Amino acid sequence: MSKTILVLPGDGIGPEIVNEAVKVLATLRDEHGLDVDLDEALVGGAAIDATGGPLPDVTLELAKEADAVMLGAVGGPKWESLDITIRPEKGLLGLRAGLNLFANLRPAILYPQLAGASTLKPEVVSGLDIMIVRELTGGIYFGQPRGVNQLETGERQGINTLVYTESEIDRISRVAFDIAMKRGKRVCSVDKANVLECTELWREVATRVGGDYPEVELSHMYVDNAAMQLVRFPKQFDVMVTTNMFGDILSDCAAMLTGSIGMLPSASLDENGKGMYEPIHGSAPDIAGQGLANPLATILSVAMMLRYSLNEPAMAERIESAVNKVLDDGLRTPDIMSEGMNEVGCEQMGDAVVAAL
Ligand code: IPM
Ligand code: MG
Repeated sequence: MSKTILVLPGDGIGPEIVNEAVKVLATLRDEHGLDVDLDEALVGGAAIDATGGPLPDVTLELAKEADAVMLGAVGGPKWESLDITIRPEKGLLGLRAGLNLFANLRPAILYPQLAGASTLKPEVVSGLDIMIVRELTGGIYFGQPRGVNQLETGERQGINTLVYTESEIDRISRVAFDIAMKRGKRVCSVDKANVLECTELWREVATRVGGDYPEVELSHMYVDNAAMQLVRFPKQFDVMVTTNMFGDILSDCAAMLTGSIGMLPSASLDENGKGMYEPIHGSAPDIAGQGLANPLATILSVAMMLRYSLNEPAMAERIESAVNKVLDDGLRTPDIMSEGMNEVGCEQMGDAVVAAL
């Protein structure tokens, strides 16, 4: 039976990069027998402009019905002055919560061809392969109470709440341990247990879950140290597991080790492996519409989709090999450009990947 993929281009460079990823999917469908139907819907600023809200009911319904969702990026200066409750980002958060996508996998892999594009020394990053497992539907992003209150003293008070239940920590920890079993068998759980009670519980539950995985070596690290270690000696890490907000921050940091945030895909999964796939970068309004964006993170997100939601590992490898091939051939978008290479735009890069498939 054919699988349905809902495509959500979103804002900024979203439509450009998603266009290239769709070409890749269409090629696999038309020439290699991938049995998929593609559907498209609005999210983020594009949805605000068309319907008044960042996540129309029909988009959420289609996303629930689909076998997998592919998202570009949301947000931009045009919508920044809106109330925070109806900004484009709420569309993304609404999808994550509405689809119960609690497990966010963010691999930071250095393509050897790009070792020179990192701001860190090649010997520090060469061979880098970290998997960040970020909790995605809880923590301070969703905790109550939240908002800005008017105090009796006349001033206002902003409030957000960091909250995790044992079951939430348990299930994300298991995802991390299961992944570690298929990799280097090491998990580093990142918290701020020296200050925050909530993450003291996080550490306790992660340790308890670790008891079910005797083969995996579990370590704990405070988030400030983890940020430092990521730039000091990143190759010490195999799998990192952490809260929603710490994962947001550490994954941007890890991305930059690989040369460009334009290279990194992500998967956001529910209990059953259904997922939403997106590049970890944002909508990059400064370069939107100019054909300069790097589509490789989105194309590599399609590979993750094939692997995690569509059970097509051979097709996933086909995409990853094609990306390797275009990098070997010296093609570079501006974000990963270096001397002697061949600078191309978003569309040319997508076409090259399609040709290499
Ligand atoms: C990310 C992004 C989002 C987040 C924003 C756009 C809401 O930064 O996916 O990392 O904070 O989760
Ligand atoms: Mg982020």
